[in-house]
Amino acid sequence: MSHADEHEGTRRDFLYYATAGAGAVTAGAAIWPLVNQMNPSADVQALSSIRVDISGVEEGTQLTVKWLGKPVFIRRRTAIEIEDARSVEVSDLPDGIARNENIEGDVPATDENRTLDENGEWLVQMGVCTHLGCVPLGNAGDFTAEGDVGGWFCPCHGSHYDTAGRIRKGPAPENLPVPVAEFVDESTIKLG
Ligand code: FES
Repeated sequence: MSHADEHEGTRRDFLYYATAGAGAVTAGAAIWPLVNQMNPSADVQALSSIRVDISGVEEGTQLTVKWLGKPVFIRRRTAIEIEDARSVEVSDLPDGIARNENIEGDVPATDENRTLDENGEWLVQMGVCTHLGCVPLGNAGDFTAEGDVGGWFCPCHGSHYDTAGRIRKGPAPENLPVPVAEFVDESTIKLG
């Protein structure tokens, strides 16, 4: 091999590597804006809508899930809780509006206008007291047929919510809000 051939070979190797390097940079630059654009929408989607498995929720208990940074109560009510909530006159309620995002407009705060299913077994609501935002305690309300069964109580300043999550006594001005929710199948609820 002459000196000139050696030089030629080195130069070709150099060109080869330089080209490969440039190709890698180009590919990287092309992928990055794509990933960058996809990230925010993927995040927003994950936050704005979640699916909750409710197959393990027993009657008379509730599941608390975190959604959009806030607690959401998903309660499977007993027959007594349902009966109690349905026997109340809307005119006796401090807040007569259903506060249900699934229903357009200010409809009356009947139990039927707040529950997820027609039978009233499932109640989904934000676990945030409408007074100053504490998280109310479950199975702690006074406004139930069986004394301390069902309902919610906010210990921060003493707000009592009935078994439909409607404010009945204390400083909270509004019923617990019912967020956008639906059944995806019989054991899954989608929030948002
Ligand atoms: S924050 Fe619930 S009563 Fe004040």
